[in-house]
Amino acid sequence: LLLFPTYAQRWNVNYDEAAVGPYSLPSLLRTHGGTTVNNVEDWEIFRKPEILASCTHHLYGRVPGELDTMFVTVKEKKGTALNGKAKRKQVTLTLVKGKKELSADLLIYLPVGKKKSAIFLGYNFWGNHTITDDPNVIIPTSWMPINKDLHILTNRADEQSRGSMKRRWPLEQIIGAGYGVVTLYRGDIDPDRDDFSDGIHPLFYSKGQERPCNDEWGTIAAWSWGLSRVMDYLETEAEIDNQKVILVGHSRLGKVTLWTAATDQRFAAAISNNSGAMGSTLSRRNFGETVEVINTAFPHWFCGNFKKYSNREDMLPVDQHMVLSLIAPRPLYIASATEDLWADPKGEFLSAKEASVVYNLYGIQGLSAASMPQPDTPLIDIVSYHIRTGKHDIIAYDWEQYIKFAKQNNIQTSKN
Ligand code: GCU
Repeated sequence: LLLFPTYAQRWNVNYDEAAVGPYSLPSLLRTHGGTTVNNVEDWEIFRKPEILASCTHHLYGRVPGELDTMFVTVKEKKGTALNGKAKRKQVTLTLVKGKKELSADLLIYLPVGKKKSAIFLGYNFWGNHTITDDPNVIIPTSWMPINKDLHILTNRADEQSRGSMKRRWPLEQIIGAGYGVVTLYRGDIDPDRDDFSDGIHPLFYSKGQERPCNDEWGTIAAWSWGLSRVMDYLETEAEIDNQKVILVGHSRLGKVTLWTAATDQRFAAAISNNSGAMGSTLSRRNFGETVEVINTAFPHWFCGNFKKYSNREDMLPVDQHMVLSLIAPRPLYIASATEDLWADPKGEFLSAKEASVVYNLYGIQGLSAASMPQPDTPLIDIVSYHIRTGKHDIIAYDWEQYIKFAKQNNIQTSKN
């Protein structure tokens, strides 16, 4: 018996492989003008910008402008954590546009005794204080969805949820492997609800505007843009190696890591954990969550233009293998879970395989396996994949593979 998230049970989607039906994907290498690209130069000059523009216009939406400035306030400089094995730093970024501003709190753990650390960077779902029992971590003040399991009962977090998501952030393991962690609460950049009066969007409205135009950013693109602002800060942070920033995200936040790496070349690698529909899986494969479902349940995630593709996946000018291709030649890890059929594990594998043709242009093999590996047998390379036994989640087993992946691709903290 397979267990689906209760949320997913409400939708009548296909889980029968035999009923998937044929589909044909838009070509990665054929340009709009009809020429086929067969080398890195033509890919980078002609085809890659076309794909980036199409994904922006039809899926995630464009960022409407630039900030006036960003202030960095160091709230805590030299905390210690993990019995002296880690340094803790907490920093607030204040994003300013005209008369409006928005603040986001970063939680930083770095291994002790290293000059410049390679780091994993990603959003957390429920606040920085949920990733650890550490009593010094600042609790977010921004809006949060109600979550009875975590004792978040009033749209604000408090002490009761401290440490409640630590299974997703095995800090001892990460710090022990010589990596730092930088994380922030998703709702600091944009609360995860269908309301465009809050979060980052209003900072960029023209006079009288109340929501983004159809081609402007939804929440996923806003979150991605937020990670780029974190990178702007990291470039000024002496203790972090900004050449070695690995994006990591689970589920909707995995969708975010992919789009962030696709739009910002400064990130060294991207990890997508169970990101599913509009993350790593192919939209044209009729299995699990569909475009209609995601547009209905999360109407704020993508741009207005994306709405017209509900039930019309075949009309999409792009598919998710094209988002992955924008990350090439940088290391990319796609991970699935056996019970997470909602995310369509096979579609996640296949899109990584499809995107491999662009890695091939760079002389990189990409995902070499002809078919999906058995559960719990990771394929770790430049393009990596695993399917873990179990539920939709990110746990120590997944992190163990991500650390191996980072080391194998030589994205690690230097010895001295
Ligand atoms: C829902 C949604 C998915 C998403 C997931 C999550 O299940 O349908 O697309 O990935 O939430 O973020 O946990």
